[in-house]
Amino acid sequence: MARFIQIAVQDAAAIRDELTAGLSAPTAAIAPKHFYDLLGSKLFEAICELPEYYPTRTEAAIFADQQAAIGQAAGSGRVLIDLGAGNCEKAASLFPVLQPSAYVPVDISTSFLQQAVERLQAQYPAMPMLGVGIDFSTTLELPPEVPSGRRLFFYPGSSIGNFTPQEAVAFLRRVCHACGSDGSLLIGVDLVKDPATLQQAYDDALGVTACFNLNVLNNVNALLHADFRLSGWRHQALFNAVDSRIEMHLEAREDQRVGWDGGARRFERGQRIHTENSYKYSRAAFLALLQEAGFAGIEAWTDPQQWFMVCHARVG
Ligand code: AVI
Repeated sequence: MARFIQIAVQDAAAIRDELTAGLSAPTAAIAPKHFYDLLGSKLFEAICELPEYYPTRTEAAIFADQQAAIGQAAGSGRVLIDLGAGNCEKAASLFPVLQPSAYVPVDISTSFLQQAVERLQAQYPAMPMLGVGIDFSTTLELPPEVPSGRRLFFYPGSSIGNFTPQEAVAFLRRVCHACGSDGSLLIGVDLVKDPATLQQAYDDALGVTACFNLNVLNNVNALLHADFRLSGWRHQALFNAVDSRIEMHLEAREDQRVGWDGGARRFERGQRIHTENSYKYSRAAFLALLQEAGFAGIEAWTDPQQWFMVCHARVG
């Protein structure tokens, strides 16, 4: 049986305070972590299947094409610590190559992990598995129950792109520290490319990304007892070339008043709520970021179009 440890979850009052501050700011914002309620998580899975959303399949192709090189760089018998493990599928696909000594899927809540880890444990009954529920974007203090051994942190999917570069360095420093003296990191990152390809990936023809973006208002309505009407908002995705990032916004279709527990705000037609940044790096810029965070001995693999990059980095 897999074991699970839930470290701490942000309490409801803190979530409400943070949402209220974001909605009341001159440029209103909702943090992207609020996308991922149950429906939002399913919509994100659907995004990963879209023809326009190239990151998931491109990263999977790099893992498949480069498995021998990745296996050699990362080594076998490591304690595999999967940050934002979700359904655990990406890490599980690398088990034959990495032959981990133990598997530690980490996500904000262990309840999201439970089914996937139990399934995996049945497939690999001899491998110790420990699910850890922790907000790893703010802390990487892992519990002492994590099996000892050389650590391999795994952070795929270009989730690193949802941090600002400054936040990304701070996060990678924490990963570097948590690696100990002999650990390493396997990470996937989306690369900068022509704006039209980027734009389509975040504004697909079926409108799945639009639903994903709009659904954040359903979640805010539930968390904050707000009265957002989804029909009053439209999805916007734009590439900001100066900051090298896709920005997602929700734009008011009409003047309106939105109320929530303890507050309210007027939005004018055309006014926006900023919901996500997804930074796109050049190869050189991302390698520099890893070095700034304390990593060295970096090996990197890309696809033939150089759309996505997988890196293995050791503690420097
Ligand atoms: C989770 N993250 C890496 C996705 C991205 O591409 O930034 C989230 C996403 N937002 C819209 N589509 C996908």
